[in-house]
Amino acid sequence: MTERRNITLAVTGAGGTRMARFVLEALVKDERVAQVDLMVSQAGRQLIAHETGRDASGPAADLVLGAPAMDKVVAWDPEDLTGGPTSGSYPSWGMLVVPCALGVAGRIANGMANTLIERAADVMLKERRPLVLCVRETPFNLIHLRNLTQVAEAGGTVYPMIPTYYNIPQTVDQFYEEFTVRLLSFIGLPQTDYYAYSGVESPAHHDRTGRA
Ligand SMILES: Cc1cc2nc3c(=O)[nH]c(=O)nc-3n(C[C@H](O)[C@H](O)[C@H](O)COP(=O)(O)O)c2cc1C
Repeated sequence: MTERRNITLAVTGAGGTRMARFVLEALVKDERVAQVDLMVSQAGRQLIAHETGRDASGPAADLVLGAPAMDKVVAWDPEDLTGGPTSGSYPSWGMLVVPCALGVAGRIANGMANTLIERAADVMLKERRPLVLCVRETPFNLIHLRNLTQVAEAGGTVYPMIPTYYNIPQTVDQFYEEFTVRLLSFIGLPQTDYYAYSGVESPAHHDRTGRA
């Protein structure tokens, strides 16, 4: 097995915070992941609370998962710029922002490292490590588009939270699950149990969720 990785996961104040739960669960479950460094922004907390009814002031991992924190998860205060991920010497293999608000993407695009999330993203770009922004907004305005272009030019990946559609998700959770599988595969953690297109004649459906 290749060296196990530390992955940084940031959750910011955009719709679809449930995706962060799917991604965090998948990262924790994956034997190739040694540690998940988790940061939830203030707006992220409010959005999770809004979308789930959970208490916004709870511990970050509990808030994202709706259950007690899992092993492997190290939570950082996004307002504390002295946290480990502020430094290029911190052993993070790469960073995912799920979901990524366009305000955050704009600050990252312009090097404004005002929070630990923005600083950690800045570090990923300067260290030439993977940075994946799962943006959620529609429609994009010209400023969004220019900022996202700038992130891509700096080496980051803009990975919008857009459903695949052609696997015909039967539930919203199937959309979350399919997206999560593809996202992990994209960062070099290929998954075995997923929908793979094999011609228009093959059935597209799949159903393997079961979460509450
Ligand atoms: C209910 C609600 C939904 C929001 N949804 C989005 C969204 O889908 N995409 C987005 O870019 N911003 C959205 N926002 C705005 C962001 O939360 C805001 O720009 C915030 O500053 C994001 O930065 P932060 O997570 O670093 O605090 C939403 C705000 C609220 C209150």
